Amino acid sequence: MNLETLISEEEIYQKTKELGARISKDYAGKEITVICVLKGGVMFMVDLVKQIKIPLKMDFMVVSSYGDEFKSSGIVKIVKDLDEGITGKHVIIVEDIIDSGRTLNYLIKILKERNPASIEICTLLDKPDQRIADVDVKYVGFTIENHFVLGYGLDYKQLYRNLPYIAINKQ
Ligand code: IMP
Ligand code: MG
Repeated sequence: MNLETLISEEEIYQKTKELGARISKDYAGKEITVICVLKGGVMFMVDLVKQIKIPLKMDFMVVSSYGDEFKSSGIVKIVKDLDEGITGKHVIIVEDIIDSGRTLNYLIKILKERNPASIEICTLLDKPDQRIADVDVKYVGFTIENHFVLGYGLDYKQLYRNLPYIAINKQ
C-alpha cells in the first residue's frame, strides 16, 4: 500500500476537542452513555470521551455486518451486546465512519426499541456519496469524498487500525 495522510493526528485531536465541547454543552446537567461500535470506533471513542466534561458511562458493542472487505452488506448481527440497559438513558453512539448507512440504520432501530431517553450518533467520518439507508447524524467530525480510508481504528483486512492518522491508499 502507498499510504497518504488524509487527516492528521493534530486535526483529529482538534476535532475531538470541538465535538467534546459541543456534547458537553448540549447535554449539560445530564449523564450520558457513550456506546462504541467495536472495533473501528475505539480510537475515536477513547479520544473523544477525554474531551467530554459531563458524567458519562462507556459501553461497547460488537456488530458484524457481512460483506467484503470494502463494503458492508446491511445484514447486521449483534456479536456482543451492551453490558447495561439503556432504557431512560441519553445515548450517543460513536462510530468510525458512515458509508452506506446500513450498519447504523439497523443499529439505531434495535437500540430505539430499548426506549432510551434520547439517542444520537457521533461519527468521525461521513462519506455521504454512497448513502443508501437514511441516518440522522448529529455530530460529524469530517465529511470526506468516496475514498477507502484507513487508520485510527479503520481497517483493511483487520490491519492498519493502529495508524494514529487517517490515510488513503494512493495506488
Ligand atoms: P455502512 O454500513 O456502509 O455505513 O458501513 C459502515 C462500516 O463499514 C464502518 O463502520 C466500517 O467498518 C466500514 N467502512 C466503510 N467505509 C470504510 C472505509 O473507507 N475504510 C474502512 N472501513 C470502512
Ligand atoms: Mg470495520
